[in-house]
Amino acid sequence: MPFPLHRMRRLRSHPWAREMTRETRLHKSMFVEPFFVTEGKGRRVPVPSMPGVCQLSVDTLVEECAISREMGIGAVLLFGLPETKDGVGSEGYSPKGIVARALEALKESLPDLYLIADVCLCEYTDHGHCGIIGAGRSAGPATKDVLNDPTLDLLAKEAVVYAEAGADMVAPSAMMDGQVRAIRSALDAKGLETLPIMSYAAKYASGFYGPFREAAQSAPQFGDRRGYQMDPPNVREALREVALDLEEGADVVMVKPALAYLDVLRRVADSSPVPVAAYNVSGEYSMLKAAAERGWLDENRLVMEILTAIRRAGADIILTYHARQAAKLLDG
Ligand code: PBG
Repeated sequence: MPFPLHRMRRLRSHPWAREMTRETRLHKSMFVEPFFVTEGKGRRVPVPSMPGVCQLSVDTLVEECAISREMGIGAVLLFGLPETKDGVGSEGYSPKGIVARALEALKESLPDLYLIADVCLCEYTDHGHCGIIGAGRSAGPATKDVLNDPTLDLLAKEAVVYAEAGADMVAPSAMMDGQVRAIRSALDAKGLETLPIMSYAAKYASGFYGPFREAAQSAPQFGDRRGYQMDPPNVREALREVALDLEEGADVVMVKPALAYLDVLRRVADSSPVPVAAYNVSGEYSMLKAAAERGWLDENRLVMEILTAIRRAGADIILTYHARQAAKLLDG
């Protein structure tokens, strides 16, 4: 008997056969749509490096979120652009800060929309770092560094303010050691023990955040984030970050960015006992938008291919600026 010819093409020829045998499916309930909220009224300020994304004032944010909800997107993630910035990011944890007010307005108008608040200081500090700055400890000439432990209290305060303003989940992204534990104990102390934490557990120091920093006006004014975000070549370290965040009380762990880190996502998904999120970040979005604008890539097709790949690599939740477009495509 000669080796039989295996007819792999049998299930590929009819569209329904392909539909029926698909191993990975996307659903709108997996998507979280990020939004940037700014001061003022009636504002929709386009972000040049992220076509289709705007900075929104609280009133227009409510309008846009209502549209997203209508389209079947159940969860949003909020980033704030404060009126003023200072060395300690005080607008981030002021109960009158921009994200706190946005949460209150959204909770009131769209009570069934799931609200996730990013917890970090970089949008609120004048130096653009994710924590407060002090003297560095390395040998040689005087350096400045992001101070870990003093930052924890501020992140915890910020998380409590957002929770009390209406957030259904908080998502710490500052990459300070111990941030999940600090936030968990602060929430618990306020009787918010049922509020979940989605931790940016494996967040890499990535060039893919470039457009976000324009959108959130959060570029560091000196140095970079390599002293607290992860080094891109590492994967064992990601597993350790995840393990530590779980120990500290994380309910969901995130890998970020997504596309250049699908191997990390797969490793985390294989070992994580909790749901795994992946952040399809700004640079990944803008790359596709730019190529599509030039007619080099088919945008709709690639949106689905990319999100499906992230899902296939193990994500339960996908944070993506393509959420609306993907929702539309899934509706057919
Ligand atoms: C805040 C934060 C960043 C992103 C999410 N939260 C930027 C950064 O770390 O510089 C990036 C999101 C994106 O690029 O879409 N720390």
